[in-house]
Amino acid sequence: MDTVRAVLDLLKSGINITFSGKEPWQIVSITTSSVLFIVWLYDFLDRDESLSVRGKKTIFRLAKYIPQVRRKVEDELNAINKTFQEDVIKKTAHLDYIVELPDKGLERDEIIKKLHENLRINEEAWQSGLASGAVYADDSNVKDLVGEVFKLSSYTNPLHPDLFPGVCKMEAEVVKIICNLFHGDENSCGTMTTGGTESIMMACKAYRDYAKETRGIRRPEMVLPVTAHSGFDKAGLYLNIRLRHIPIDPNTCQVDIEAMKRAINRNTVMLVGSAPNFPYGTVDNIAEISELGLKYNIPVHVDSCLGGLLTVFMEKAGYPPTVTDFRLKGVTSISADTHKYGFAPKGTSVILYRDPKYRHCQYTVTTDWVGGVYGSPTVNGSRSGGNIATCWATLLYHGLNGYVDSTKDIIYTTRFIEKGLRRIKGIFIFGQPATSVVAIGSHDFDILRLSDALEKRGWSLNVLQYPSGIHICITKLHTRATIAQKFLDDVKEAVAEIMKDPSVPVEGKMALYGTAQKLPDRSIVGDITKYFLDNMYYVPKQKTVEYN
Ligand SMILES: *Cc1c(COP(=O)(O)O)cnc(C)c1O
Ligand SMILES: *[C@@H]1O[C@H](CO)[C@@H](O)[C@H](O)[C@H]1NC(C)=O
Ligand SMILES: *[C@@H]1O[C@H](CO)[C@@H](O)[C@H](O)[C@H]1NC(C)=O
Repeated sequence: MDTVRAVLDLLKSGINITFSGKEPWQIVSITTSSVLFIVWLYDFLDRDESLSVRGKKTIFRLAKYIPQVRRKVEDELNAINKTFQEDVIKKTAHLDYIVELPDKGLERDEIIKKLHENLRINEEAWQSGLASGAVYADDSNVKDLVGEVFKLSSYTNPLHPDLFPGVCKMEAEVVKIICNLFHGDENSCGTMTTGGTESIMMACKAYRDYAKETRGIRRPEMVLPVTAHSGFDKAGLYLNIRLRHIPIDPNTCQVDIEAMKRAINRNTVMLVGSAPNFPYGTVDNIAEISELGLKYNIPVHVDSCLGGLLTVFMEKAGYPPTVTDFRLKGVTSISADTHKYGFAPKGTSVILYRDPKYRHCQYTVTTDWVGGVYGSPTVNGSRSGGNIATCWATLLYHGLNGYVDSTKDIIYTTRFIEKGLRRIKGIFIFGQPATSVVAIGSHDFDILRLSDALEKRGWSLNVLQYPSGIHICITKLHTRATIAQKFLDDVKEAVAEIMKDPSVPVEGKMALYGTAQKLPDRSIVGDITKYFLDNMYYVPKQKTVEYN
């Protein structure tokens, strides 16, 4: 924070002294550079990020040319990078890293042993049931089945329908099964993808290209709630679509429909709602977004990646349903992750459309490649038939009754936790949790302190920002006896402790989150995040083992 203020002061004083005591020729050259500046400014104004975001970024980019500022920022970043690095070193200290192919291939048993060693690192963190989301079910029967199915199908590839027609059949079946769950009619269609982010990206591509073809839109924009998944930001960056983020109602945590309506313009290619969203687990008012879509003739995407395979079973599980699917006439596409509450292995999701005309715009077709005419439905060329088959097998294994039962358990557990949390003084719940996510905030103390206290008790929850909050995403692992009660007991105990002195600031790693949230220079937060990612690939040098 101090760095930031220092930078702004420096810039301000720089501007004040610009014109004082200048010779005429100097003013002329200043004017010339002003013209250049205006050209630059025009270019600057004409790009996709909002003005204020870019303004802040630019001030900081310029400020970083000031050596003292740069050095200070670099020192801070290096220190943070170092903590990431130490974290990796600590977690893998007992293991060797392999960075060269062994001359002679390893024996099967040795490979399995090494696999176990790698998987065992920090395994209890998720197996204990104390994590949020991440692993949605842990059932050894399913794992046996999936192992067998993958063994049989992993080398197949739907890129070659002539060779593997059965894999294409299974993909078509998965898509249609899920279309039916979301009440699609006979026109409804879709494709499988490798995950929610890819499903979202595919919908965005489809609507960008659809708007270009039918309306000639060259500067596409999407209108979406601030609570929509960051996969949309990623899609915007990859596909050059400008995002217009709409605030939510702070009480209901649903998107502000009036603001959404005002943000629609002739460049709008899609509207987005979440059912439910990731941060708060609340469902946007999809019926009203659907109406907006119909009124302005703009496609509506419903992101049901997280909870879609709960919402479709809610009614049968005995909970009043919220209609968020193709029964709403304006909803033109839905994304749903089979690798979340479909309980399939990681690597599958579906993107569904009301009408095949949108799916056509998702495809990529190159007609002039020397390698031949090439068409592919999603990002990948080659895809794993194994992923398709394991997803297909998991759906068939659970069946409707299996999913209804899981939904019952998961929703029951979530409501139990929600009810318990509402009784604890000092904290509040964001909006009305619709499915499996409950987000907690506090008006009385820094909620990151609760996160910290729970971490000390073994829990790992997700941290939210703007405003500060934490959330837990309930999976099958939390439906085991006593886990939900343990959570409530731990929160109660931790909050009681904190409330003895609510004004104490948060310390340690959580303090970094708190500071990061307040930094106006998001590029520094961006750099920190890049370092974090760098360290996922970090190989401690001294531990490199060569099999030579
Ligand atoms: C998880 C999630 C996604 C993205 O899914 P990935 O499979 O992680 O790419 C999209 N939207 C919501 C609401 C999610 O929770
Ligand atoms: C950050 O850490 C990684 C390894 O942990 C290292 O390779 C990289 O050079 C560091 N980056 C900076 C800028 O210090
Ligand atoms: C391709 O598919 C694999 C798994 O099948 C996935 O891990 C990878 O992310 C995909 N790549 C792209 C570019 O989508």
